[in-house]
Amino acid sequence: MSDKATLEYNGKKYEFPVIEGTENELAIDIKTLRSVTNGMITIDPGYKNTGSCESAITFLDGEKGILRYRGYSIEELAEKADFLEVAYLLIFGELPNKEQLAKFHDDIKEESHIDEEMKKILDAFPKSAHPMGVLTSLTSALIAFNPISVNVSSEEAMYHAIVRILAKFPVLVAWTLRKKKGLPLDYGDDSLGYVENFHKMMFKRPNKEYTKNEIVIEALDKLLILHADHEQNCSTSTVRIVGSSHAGLFASLSAGIAALWGPLHGGANQAVLEMLEAIEADGGDTKKYMAKAKDKEDPFRLMGFGHRVYKNFDPRARIIKKAADGVLGDLGIEDPILEIAKGLEKEALEDKYFVDRKLYPNVDFYSGIIYRALGIPTDMFTVMFAMGRLPGWIAQWREMRLRKEPIGRPRQVYIGENERPFVSVDLR
Ligand code: SDX
Repeated sequence: MSDKATLEYNGKKYEFPVIEGTENELAIDIKTLRSVTNGMITIDPGYKNTGSCESAITFLDGEKGILRYRGYSIEELAEKADFLEVAYLLIFGELPNKEQLAKFHDDIKEESHIDEEMKKILDAFPKSAHPMGVLTSLTSALIAFNPISVNVSSEEAMYHAIVRILAKFPVLVAWTLRKKKGLPLDYGDDSLGYVENFHKMMFKRPNKEYTKNEIVIEALDKLLILHADHEQNCSTSTVRIVGSSHAGLFASLSAGIAALWGPLHGGANQAVLEMLEAIEADGGDTKKYMAKAKDKEDPFRLMGFGHRVYKNFDPRARIIKKAADGVLGDLGIEDPILEIAKGLEKEALEDKYFVDRKLYPNVDFYSGIIYRALGIPTDMFTVMFAMGRLPGWIAQWREMRLRKEPIGRPRQVYIGENERPFVSVDLR
């Protein structure tokens, strides 16, 4: 197989190196394109065919429905690992041994306090504020209270910024939920596991003892693992490009949260539940919504379906669908929404429009059903996605900084007015 690609234009040939990844993915390296062709660039809206970086963190095969974090399959990690282990794996590249994991958790616990002044910022939000808007603001506000984490370049300074945000982010997520519910802010309990403590901070009632529900903690841990990274998706690319200007980790994460909020991306899990509830309110008329999704005049899309990379089942959707049955069964919850989701999935998978476009359920299609069973409000679903994605964003930001990648600055093809003389206002 050749390690060169040739471009021919206007009778001239240009050669570019072809690079091959460890999973045999091939890319044409066009770093010299503009200089050798006297200014030509490529253009690819949405970057559907364009790689932004080389990365060793996550591998996806969209045709085969494969997802691996640092070489470990998502199926094995969801089954055998816990979220903190997976966070360590994504960020540092290896599964931690017992001592490494204990030290990582201890270092995080040391940083789990939030400056009391942050509560004034939280208080300033109306209860009606969307939790994603609150979270992206609080994450950015953290910078003011952690100035040494603003622009870190040494591995040691990065480590401290990383444990700091892994410690404080779950507190901010829990506070965001408790603010909505009018509950006093809770600091959790360092004697608990990372995810159990996160759950306690979210749900402990001020007048009741917190009791651990194994089923709930296990389901939450699995959901966080399944959301932990997904290579160069919209929000991760945002974190990387913001970080490439040497903006700090917290600022880059705040930008990533804002990008995740969109209903075409992480906001889809909330949109799925709202869609399923609308179908339920409509008497379960899935055919009406299928027709809307296929009608080019109708902006409605079947939320939770389709994916830029997966043209087969999203492996995470398979795991979550199975877990939804298990969690609802174990908790003794009969949720008609799950049956509507299954009916909609069956119809779409047999419908020519969806089959021809290889539109399958994605990670967001079933996740909301479990979040709902865990008592998480619908408008907090994307916040839960952000909590899961936090280690992936951190890992990708760290890789980009350690590899000393250049500032991200795409080119464009200008299609505006050619030069024209200024006309004073009284002559216009
Ligand atoms: C996430 O990138 C990641 O890795 C993201 C993510 C992660 O972990 O970070 O996996 C998380 O964001 C999952 C996706 C969640 N979003 C949704 O569920 C929203 C609904 N899905 C779509 O909007 C859409 O499928 C996207 C945004 C996910 C992907 O869009 P693409 O790749 O840009 O594809 P497209 O819009 O060009 O669609 C191709 C065709 C079009 O029809 P034609 O013009 O060819 O006739 O498929 C149609 C689209 O209209 N189509 C849909 C559809 N998704 C695509 N039609 C109806 N319903 C849908 N959901």
